Amino acid sequence: MSKFQRMFRVVTYSLSVVLFTFLLSNSAAAQDGEKLFKANCSSCHKLNKKLIGPALSGVQERWEDQEALYAWIKNSQDYLKKNPGDSYAQELFLEYNKSVMTAQAVSDAEIGAILDYIANPPADKAPPAQLAVNENAAPAEDNSTYWLFGIVIILVIVARILSGVRSSLATVKLLSEGKEILKPKSFIEGLKHWTINNKRYTVLIVVLILASFSVKGWYALKSIGVYQGYAPEQPIKFSHKIHAGVNAIECAYCHHSAYKGKNAGIPSVNVCMNCHEGISEGKVDGTVEIAKIYEAAGWDAEDQSYTGVEKPIKWIRIHNLPDFAYFNHSQHVVVGKQKCETCHGEVSEYGYPMKQYSELTMGWCINCHRETTVAMEGNEYYTKIHNELLERYKDEKIDAFTVEHIGGLECGKCHY
Ligand code: HEC
Ligand code: HEC
Ligand code: HEC
Ligand code: HEC
Ligand code: HEC
Ligand code: HEC
Repeated sequence: MSKFQRMFRVVTYSLSVVLFTFLLSNSAAAQDGEKLFKANCSSCHKLNKKLIGPALSGVQERWEDQEALYAWIKNSQDYLKKNPGDSYAQELFLEYNKSVMTAQAVSDAEIGAILDYIANPPADKAPPAQLAVNENAAPAEDNSTYWLFGIVIILVIVARILSGVRSSLATVKLLSEGKEILKPKSFIEGLKHWTINNKRYTVLIVVLILASFSVKGWYALKSIGVYQGYAPEQPIKFSHKIHAGVNAIECAYCHHSAYKGKNAGIPSVNVCMNCHEGISEGKVDGTVEIAKIYEAAGWDAEDQSYTGVEKPIKWIRIHNLPDFAYFNHSQHVVVGKQKCETCHGEVSEYGYPMKQYSELTMGWCINCHRETTVAMEGNEYYTKIHNELLERYKDEKIDAFTVEHIGGLECGKCHY
């Protein structure tokens, strides 16, 4: 191996080491953010839930001035004294009047790490994309593609630097040997040359890129729309147990469209007001939660009148099939005589928050269609179909027809 080749190797190795430590240190910083948050902040803050202090998710967007945010975190009382004009901070303090955020002994870098953690919590802990009723999900931010892109750019730069180093080394060598200087190679040509001379590296890079793509793809495929058990925080702590359970209010009182059409729907605030004009206090949360209904409806509890200023309640949608799948409530509830509980569980026993009981995957729909018999007796609509089916399946001994027999496994029934 020539001196030049050895030198070239040393340079490549050290640059790879630098590159990998850079990648590692970055994920280490994210971990530090989590650790720092747990050690200093988690006694009073959660990401998505109010504790002693507010939920911190999205906090950077709430503070226009990032310097002010840093100053607040270091010493909120001091910040309030020095900035009587910051109405956001002053109001926040009033809102949490009884609790003071103690001064935090954290450096700017540590605050940066904590804020990074708040903005990008580890994927397994982040809730699925939240969406308001009737709005479509914004695809969750996934920055692994940016990472990949970044790595490729870095590799290209490294290759470029190397080819530069190499050609100058070659020039020096040639000069010292008193030979003629060759025309420098083009970048593409250099890269080609580099890949030929560094087959192992090339293979490694290609494998890394492919692996990261397939890992990403695998997770994306596996997790498409499977949110069983999903139970997001809601803007008002509405409990099905108190309403449908203890007070035995029919599902239909609030979800009457389930019996009429495709969607079950979420009741509007007017439906709540039918009862809550009179009920201003609950046993669990006192007046706090019901006050939010009043705010939404624009109801002045003191004057017992509506102000006209309404503010819709932004319920977080829990069940959500992808757009390419068709599901109709009344077909199942009215025609198919299926109970709400079969698909949604014992809702009248669910306290706050409401959750998704079933998988809502294609396999789940299909299994039920294979197993459930169609209630045809005493149903005029089915008399003709029933006779046709009896004729068609007369050689097989079938006692009861399932949804499968009426075509419930045909792709076109569920997919447009
Ligand atoms: C002793 C409890 C306590 C601890 C510990 C604490 N906080 Fe707070 N924090 C609060 C309270 C209470 C508020 C609400 C404002 C007030 O009353 O001062 C708040 C408000 C905030 C806000 C403003 C929130 C918003 O919605 O604009 C940020 C940002 C914040 N805290 C960050 C942190 C960070 C970061 C840490 C850890 C380094 C931390 N806090 C530790 C109690 C605490
Ligand atoms: C007093 C009104 C009321 C009654 C009665 C009621 N619900 Fe609800 N339901 C709501 C409200 C409000 C929401 C939205 C807030 C939430 O998800 O907690 C909701 C949400 C739901 C959801 C989840 C919706 C989503 O976002 O995917 C299901 C499923 C549901 N209800 C089923 C039932 C069933 C089954 C019953 C009867 C056992 C019932 N509800 C009775 C008011 C009611
Ligand atoms: C048919 C009557 C009725 C309707 C409609 C109704 N509620 Fe209630 N709600 C009640 C009753 C009864 C209570 C129990 C009060 C108690 O604890 O004494 C209650 C209690 C509550 C509580 C307080 C729970 C607690 O213990 O702190 C909240 C919050 C609430 N309802 C929200 C809603 C919302 C939101 C809607 C509309 C989607 C709604 N309610 C619709 C009858 C109703
Ligand atoms: C055969 C299973 C099944 C039955 C029975 C069923 N649901 Fe659903 N429900 C679903 C599915 C699937 C979704 C998701 C629909 C979507 O995203 O388009 C859903 C969604 C909902 C929602 C969210 C809002 C909406 O319209 O998408 C509510 C509320 C709801 N169901 C209430 C009920 C009530 C009340 C009953 C009983 C009257 C009931 N469901 C019976 C499967 C069922
Ligand atoms: C609890 C069992 C059950 C589950 C779960 C279920 N279904 Fe059904 N489905 C039925 C029954 C029963 C019928 C027959 C209704 C009738 O008599 O027309 C039916 C009928 C249908 C039909 C009409 C079929 C036809 O030939 O007319 C469609 C479309 C449908 N279901 C879609 C779905 C989708 C999409 C899902 C999953 C998101 C689903 N179903 C989950 C029980 C179920
Ligand atoms: C009974 C209703 C139903 C029938 C019949 C049905 N599908 Fe689906 N399919 C669904 C639902 C619901 C989803 C969404 C599942 C999810 O979000 O996890 C889905 C998802 C899919 C997907 C996306 C990948 C996945 O698994 O999420 C493909 C592809 C698909 N269906 C193809 C088909 C084909 C092909 C047929 C006919 C052989 C068919 N489906 C029949 C309900 C049905």
